[in-house]
Amino acid sequence: MPNGAEDRAMLEGKTILVTGAASGIGRAAARLFREYGAAPVLFDRDEAVMDVARDLPGSAALVGDITDCAALADALERHGPFDAAFNNAGTEGMGGRMVPIADYPEEEFRKVQQVNVEGLWNCLKALLPGFIARGSGAIVNTSSVTGWLGAPGLAAYSASKHAVIGLTRSAALEAAPAGVRVNAVLPGAVETPMLTERGFAANPGFAEGAAASHPMGRIATAREVAEAAAWLLSDRAGFVTGHCLAVDGGLSAR
Ligand SMILES: NC(=O)c1ccc[n+]([C@@H]2O[C@H](COP(=O)([O-])OP(=O)(O)OC[C@H]3O[C@@H](n4cnc5c(N)ncnc54)[C@H](O)[C@@H]3O)[C@@H](O)[C@H]2O)c1
Repeated sequence: MPNGAEDRAMLEGKTILVTGAASGIGRAAARLFREYGAAPVLFDRDEAVMDVARDLPGSAALVGDITDCAALADALERHGPFDAAFNNAGTEGMGGRMVPIADYPEEEFRKVQQVNVEGLWNCLKALLPGFIARGSGAIVNTSSVTGWLGAPGLAAYSASKHAVIGLTRSAALEAAPAGVRVNAVLPGAVETPMLTERGFAANPGFAEGAAASHPMGRIATAREVAEAAAWLLSDRAGFVTGHCLAVDGGLSAR
């Protein structure tokens, strides 16, 4: 089979839950997974997710919040069982504005943990029992290089993305005996609304320095992150679990 055809079949026949699919990395992932033969189920709290699905024949969509266990149970009931999941929904807090710990509002700190940590926890709790019972399945969680590195002005976000790695590794160890894999992608700066519409707008000078802070001299496209997730979710990564895959142009290699 020529390479192109193999690529198109990489996720053939898999029903894949994609959270945060209304925008950025999640939207790019939904499109890419479909190209690779999957039936993506798009989940987002933003109703724009319905438009994304409308433009993507072979996909389905649900409006819901990952902090709401009932909404996740409904997604499973209506569109499950899933073969795989890309737990990607997340929030940066403060509308992207960098604020030192001393000045960071408690309520905003809690909101970031509620979405990025508790929301992921809810997704894992909803998905893992079925995957383990069936003895198959793959999960990819979206962390960040700030899950490895400190991020001044983004401490609440960085703490939440460190927690994503803890959840990923723990879930991987719990699920491995059943043949279920759990991994994480750790993007550097990615060209999505989170960064280009909010982060860059809220922090003078950030846009100018972002590309140069990556050894490859540019930021990532959302599709490049989606490619890494697609591989980790595919059977080609059959013996890869508990892994943190940086997609950061060398940033964390420094
Ligand atoms: N853009 C970057 O530079 C970058 C870098 C590293 C990691 N990330 C991570 O990548 C993931 C995707 O971010 P993005 O850049 O595509 O941002 P984005 O803001 O473009 O998209 C995030 C999507 O998640 C959805 N969402 C947020 N909270 C939700 C909730 N509680 N329930 C359901 N949906 C929710 C939003 O509605 C939005 O559609 C996030 O986890 C983010 O932290 C982004």
